[in-house]
Amino acid sequence: VEAKKEIIKNAIRGIPDFPHKGILFWDVTTIMLNHQAFQYSIDLFAEQYKDKKIDVVAGFEARGLIFGAPLALALGVAFVPLRKPGKLPGDKISEEYKTEYSTDKIEMHVGAIQPGQRVVLVDDLIATGGTLAAGINLVKKAGGVVVEAACVIELPFLKGRDKIQGTDLFVLVEKEGL
Ligand code: PRP
Ligand code: MG
Repeated sequence: VEAKKEIIKNAIRGIPDFPHKGILFWDVTTIMLNHQAFQYSIDLFAEQYKDKKIDVVAGFEARGLIFGAPLALALGVAFVPLRKPGKLPGDKISEEYKTEYSTDKIEMHVGAIQPGQRVVLVDDLIATGGTLAAGINLVKKAGGVVVEAACVIELPFLKGRDKIQGTDLFVLVEKEGL
């Protein structure tokens, strides 16, 4: 497990001054370029959830979709996309959240998650935790049970865990930054 995590960690690229000066951006596209690192990240998530009676994997647009969908296939369960505003065609419920610079929103189709279903939320990275907190609220609004949140990368210095108190968080890699 530690060797797999090391391979994943080494496949993540840090890009200075993106999207703003002074921000170090952790780029997961280089995980996806590396078939082994990408496979290991899905394997480690699947290992974590295979015996947890998961019904649904919910992934955040954009980068949480890339890790969430293969996990749903690996577990043999449904996949639900949590999307940015205006993208989903059907009836939807939404949740607003604050980012460092603005107010953002995610949306989910009505009926995508049934009351009582057990859900794992997936994203590439937890920074301030605002995105995950909004996703947790959205799943709860639909009557779903949030089993855990899973991210490839955590930035512990931003204390995102504080914003999702009450929900367990599983991460593969910790990074410093800024
Ligand atoms: C990034 C990242 C997480 C979120 C983490 O997504 O992929 O989803 O920020 O930040 P937080 O913990 O402070 O909420 P972003 O909304 O920038 O865009 P993208 O995934 O669509 O590229
Ligand atoms: Mg994102």
